[in-house]
Amino acid sequence: MSQVVHTRRLQAVDLIKRKAEGRKIIALTAYHAHTANIVDSYCDFVLVGDSLGMVMHGMESTLPVTLEMMILQAQAVMRGTARALVVVDMPFGSYEASREQAFLNAARVLKETGAGAVKLEGGARFAETVAFLTERGVPVMGHIGLTPQSVNTMGGFKVQGHGAGDEDRLRADARAISEAGAFAIVMEGIVEPVARAIATDPSIRAATIGIGATAACDGQILVLEDMLGLSDRVPKFVKSYGSLRAHIEEAVRAYADEVQAGRFPADGHTYRPR
Ligand code: KIV
Repeated sequence: MSQVVHTRRLQAVDLIKRKAEGRKIIALTAYHAHTANIVDSYCDFVLVGDSLGMVMHGMESTLPVTLEMMILQAQAVMRGTARALVVVDMPFGSYEASREQAFLNAARVLKETGAGAVKLEGGARFAETVAFLTERGVPVMGHIGLTPQSVNTMGGFKVQGHGAGDEDRLRADARAISEAGAFAIVMEGIVEPVARAIATDPSIRAATIGIGATAACDGQILVLEDMLGLSDRVPKFVKSYGSLRAHIEEAVRAYADEVQAGRFPADGHTYRPR
């Protein structure tokens, strides 16, 4: 694990400070201790996203992801990190029924993982829930625009902001959860002029984090496996910073060939009597 010594983890309030200072906020997702350990030194926050359902488990959407799955992976990410704020997604069905349900499940996430914040999807209609949680000591990150947990009501994973009135609705969503106390808001899949208008709106105190939504956001996040070239299909907004799939395949092919040919294990990999 990393040799870098850090004094303490970043906290939700530090992201608000970054915004005030005009320093970009860097974030990636991670679900495992080893990848979390690699990204820790470079990221202000690491998101244990419910995208793990699709990325790790091959699910068609994030809807089947459970609180137990989120807690297990968040524990791994906490073990792998020392510096970054760790934010954990509240999965579908764990916070929508009532403010009380949201608090009990969010408190469980913080207690059982040691993470510093939770994220929940939805705008103005969750403002009361955001306020209820933050007033009770749970830092909350919001998520607006393309919200994957609403895939069935949105009619697919659709980019938002094309329709008349969308800018007003999305801006009202961002304002409502910011005023309710959210420290940051993920803005996903929102068309440029609309996303830019919201990200630069001075009345929004929360830090805006873009994913497929304007370079004008206070920070950016990507799904780690997508930007590393491990995922089969990625959305247009993903830039490929690596081609891990090809590298892994090359290594696995070499291993299979060498085992088949009897070249592995060689002498150097074999235990001999003393
Ligand atoms: O679940 C996730 O990985 C996310 C990011 C796409 C922001 O919510």
